[in-house]
Amino acid sequence: MSLWSEHVHNSLKSILLTQEQIEHRISQLACQINKDYASLTDDLVVIGVLRGSILFMSELIKQLDVPLVIDFLAAASYGKGVSSSGNVRITKDTFIDIKDKHVLVVEDIVDTGITLSKVLQMLQLRGPLSLKLCTLLSKPSRRQIEIPVDYCGFEVPDVFVVGYGLDFADKYRHLPFIGVLKDNMYS
Ligand code: IMP
Ligand code: MG
Repeated sequence: MSLWSEHVHNSLKSILLTQEQIEHRISQLACQINKDYASLTDDLVVIGVLRGSILFMSELIKQLDVPLVIDFLAAASYGKGVSSSGNVRITKDTFIDIKDKHVLVVEDIVDTGITLSKVLQMLQLRGPLSLKLCTLLSKPSRRQIEIPVDYCGFEVPDVFVVGYGLDFADKYRHLPFIGVLKDNMYS
């Protein structure tokens, strides 16, 4: 075992979702999105929220059978801890003008909903034709602000998860599965 895999093994309590489960579910989401946007003639603007969405977004868009362009924005609310500060900053904005465009925002996880509510509010002001949200994970029991989730991969319990884009202190994003971090890693 490499030093890194040993570290991963010791840091995780369990594996919540395997790569196979995640990829199977992403295919289902792509199917649904393909149906919903089947009549699209103009480009769909797919906006990934950096950095957590990158693995999910790249797997998803490969399977989208509609004309699309991609863009990214970054929002920061967490420091090195595991709970939302409530104070959301847009640290990188999009390049593409979304006025009169169909927009799909792709996120790794909706937790309290604070980040996404701010992001969606900001994008809505720019006059898109439609604005939908696709998230790999959702923790409904943690919600503080209700936001409409149009496509959701998995609802997960109130545990801190890492992998498939999700990080703890910027690490573990590249794990191809989603695991539950041991409590002693952050308490
Ligand atoms: P919210 O504003 O509370 O909805 O938090 C959204 C952000 O918190 C997500 O984009 C993640 O970056 C981060 N986050 C929330 N829960 C987790 C988790 O279990 N693991 C890793 N990151 C998380
Ligand atoms: Mg994130």
